[in-house]
Amino acid sequence: MGRIVVAFFLVALSSGLAHAGLPIVGRGDAMRLDPSGFTPQMKANYDIVRVRCVKCHTLERTIVAIKTGVAPISGQPFDRSATKAYGVKMLRKPDSNMSKAEVKAAVDLLNYLLIQAER
Ligand code: HEC
Repeated sequence: MGRIVVAFFLVALSSGLAHAGLPIVGRGDAMRLDPSGFTPQMKANYDIVRVRCVKCHTLERTIVAIKTGVAPISGQPFDRSATKAYGVKMLRKPDSNMSKAEVKAAVDLLNYLLIQAER
């Protein structure tokens, strides 16, 4: 009985993490997204993110946050009401080398991806 419960839990967990809507390619430090299905605007935003948001850490950190709904370092919720604050936090870091417009593009993409991840 216990084993069935565990198996059920594992299936529920893995299907919850798979999130068919997020086109994740590669793993670990090489983890990235396949933007071919994105709208033209979101493709442009992804071009900013894949250059600007990998200066201090890899894209894995961002993708895991979107996929799980939890920011991996702080353990805080990562949902559409939180993306702007994370964007501003990254902008304010020393040597972030991003403009406000670039951070806005990144936040728009994060929100778009959170909707994709829900599907
Ligand atoms: C100047 C360096 C730098 C840049 C550029 C940067 N980050 Fe970060 N990021 C960090 C550091 C340092 C942390 C560690 C935790 C913290 O301070 O929030 C972090 C943490 C994170 C986290 C996890 C936050 C948490 O609370 O767990 C996410 C998600 C994230 N970054 C996304 C991004 C995105 C998206 C961009 C581009 C808009 C970006 N980062 C650009 C330095 C940077």
